[in-house]
Amino acid sequence: MKRAYFKLLAVLVTAVFLSVPATGVFAKDLTGELEIFSWWAGDEGPALEALIKLYKQRHPNVTVVNATVTGGSGVNAKAVLKTRMLGGDPPDSFQVHAGQELIGTWVKADRMEDLTSLFEKQGWNQAFPEGLVKLIGTDKGIWSVPVNIHRSNVCWYVPANLKKWGVSAPASWDDFFAAAPKLKQQGVVPLALAQNWTANHLWESVALASMGPDNWDALWAGKLAFDSAEGVGAWELFGKVLEFTNDDASSLSWQQATDMVVDGRAAFNIMGDWAAGYLSTTKGLAPGSGFGWVPPPGTGGMFMFLADSFGLPKGAPHRDNVIAWLSLLGSREGSDAFNPLKGSISARTDSDLSQYNDYAKSAAADFGNNRIVGSLAHGVTANEGFMNDFASVMEMFLKSKNAQMAAKAAQQIAVKNGIGK
Ligand code: GAL
Repeated sequence: MKRAYFKLLAVLVTAVFLSVPATGVFAKDLTGELEIFSWWAGDEGPALEALIKLYKQRHPNVTVVNATVTGGSGVNAKAVLKTRMLGGDPPDSFQVHAGQELIGTWVKADRMEDLTSLFEKQGWNQAFPEGLVKLIGTDKGIWSVPVNIHRSNVCWYVPANLKKWGVSAPASWDDFFAAAPKLKQQGVVPLALAQNWTANHLWESVALASMGPDNWDALWAGKLAFDSAEGVGAWELFGKVLEFTNDDASSLSWQQATDMVVDGRAAFNIMGDWAAGYLSTTKGLAPGSGFGWVPPPGTGGMFMFLADSFGLPKGAPHRDNVIAWLSLLGSREGSDAFNPLKGSISARTDSDLSQYNDYAKSAAADFGNNRIVGSLAHGVTANEGFMNDFASVMEMFLKSKNAQMAAKAAQQIAVKNGIGK
């Protein structure tokens, strides 16, 4: 009798232990659904899937709906999100860039819940860099949880191919213009480009090189006009750079432009470091030997950053499940499961760098000692209104190549959308 009792007790104790994950959170606490909305579909999916797997381990009774809308930089997802938010049908949690995309759009429209108490409970005000917390906060609250730091200004190449073609990675645009004819002669596209949002992406690196970081910051603070000499100069340089890109750019995804570099059809591609995730996680290439990187011409010592984050929209159907989701993605464990696959570095200052590859280690070092500026193409410096209008300015420029006209139009949309206000 006594033995049977102890046996039963042992079974019960084991069962309780098994149901308590390492984090100490009881696994069976939550039920129902959790809909996570993002543009991390297909090739962009593995990092998010790793995070969802962890969530399911912690909360096995929650059904996670991984709602993705394909399209790099959220070109399609953001439009779907807007319809849902305005139609009173918010997802439980959605991907949004730290900075003006969050603050100047959804916070301004009073659609987000304040996460200050969650930040306090989790000790995140100490775990995340102060500058980043400022970017996701206002005097009324803190509005999202950052999951990473991506670098926008990176130039990718395959070292063995450059050797074969007799060129090296350019430090300045003059270096690039000197190398480009040599590449063309060998039937190689000097710079691979994809659909229009990647033109915005290229533009920000070219503009940063052309005007320098102080002017870049001044532009977004409303202290330098977009149609100033510096503003026009950026479009002029951009027009010159475009002469060395592929003609079929508008029909390619960012991954297809990266593929051109991998396959040896193009020498360089300027893309954010989600390309490092794609090259290592999807393509299985080793950083350093399989693929190489440098800051795009003229941006050495500068780190143009962006951060993906998730928030809690007002009226989210499964609020408790979202809080658990946000708690996971802001944790060291969640962040270090996500970022090594994504190509980004952790937004936390205490991440375990031994879990990251050589590319990420170099990005982490640069983030620590470079001049940091914000990305336009990925939501840091401008609100959604400006971004939508800027897409039209870009389309116009790609057709006309008229730098004066583009700079004037950019100034008009800056005023219209309250840039620097
Ligand atoms: C960015 C986003 C990255 C990556 C990229 C390509 O806007 O921050 O995480 O998804 O778009 O789609």
